[in-house]
Amino acid sequence: MLSHIIDVLADPADGTALSGAEDFSRLVSESGHSFDVAKQGYVTLAPGAGLKHKGDDADMVTAREAYLSKSHFAPFVEAVTGAVQNALDSTVSADDVPEPALLEVGAGTGYYLSHTLDSIEGARGVGLDISPHAARHLAKCHPRVGAVIADVWDRLPLRDESINAISVVFAPRNPAEFQRVLAPGGQVIVLTPQAGHLDELRDPLGILGVEEGKVERMYNQAVGYLEQAADPVNLAYAIQLDKESIAAQVAMSPSARHISAEELAERMAALPQTMCVTAHARLDRLRAV
Ligand SMILES: C[S@@+](CC[C@H](N)C(=O)[O-])C[C@H]1O[C@@H](n2cnc3c(N)ncnc32)[C@H](O)[C@@H]1O
Repeated sequence: MLSHIIDVLADPADGTALSGAEDFSRLVSESGHSFDVAKQGYVTLAPGAGLKHKGDDADMVTAREAYLSKSHFAPFVEAVTGAVQNALDSTVSADDVPEPALLEVGAGTGYYLSHTLDSIEGARGVGLDISPHAARHLAKCHPRVGAVIADVWDRLPLRDESINAISVVFAPRNPAEFQRVLAPGGQVIVLTPQAGHLDELRDPLGILGVEEGKVERMYNQAVGYLEQAADPVNLAYAIQLDKESIAAQVAMSPSARHISAEELAERMAALPQTMCVTAHARLDRLRAV
């Protein structure tokens, strides 16, 4: 619910504080701007010109929900939650900050953020995504989540130094804005797919692989804003995927956009009923410079 996170939200145009009006059917800023809360519970906080990018469409979000509900990425969600917990333990005391504010950028269906909030008593979370389809899921993923539609490449609609931990799972990052919104001692937890991730599906289906050098590019872009806060952790494990899960994995990723439905169906039909694939990702923790 937006009321849980209202103290960290800001007007996207000028950064002034927001408050709930008319029982949180609108948010209004100190400077007088008004933002309607959608009936599904999320709010769009975009600057005057509106959003320039599009995020996941309805089919991708539905596929993501189906895939994640089978717990294929359970080791990833455990690792992200553990890293957020460790980051908070090392920077804030529960006595001083009983209700730490978390932010997940590109939060999708809220699978990761809701798991983290279940594990960290009192914490509340901003689930930010540019996709309205994702925002609908985010708004109901956990009672202590507030769902916000915003573009991570714009000024984030968050107060300066308001967020104790930011998580980013397979989603875009904005190091300069992360530095601005992090509370003193706050950290950014980033899970990045690594070369080899689900490669077993690549040849038979002709889908896109993970480009090399993703993590190096992240650190290059972060220079002057964020720096490494802990040793990275490499995660690799085998997953048994049935055909339904393989179809969901393909449909939730950009791969879905460059193969025709017919061609994909033909390639899917040629696959065995289950396949053993390997998940590869790297977990990094960063802090403000
Ligand atoms: C690969 S999905 C990951 C979703 C979620 N973190 C997970 O792992 O289940 C990337 C997400 O980032 C969102 N996204 C893409 N571009 C964005 C942007 N510029 N600003 C905010 N969110 C964005 C997409 O809509 C999508 O939900």
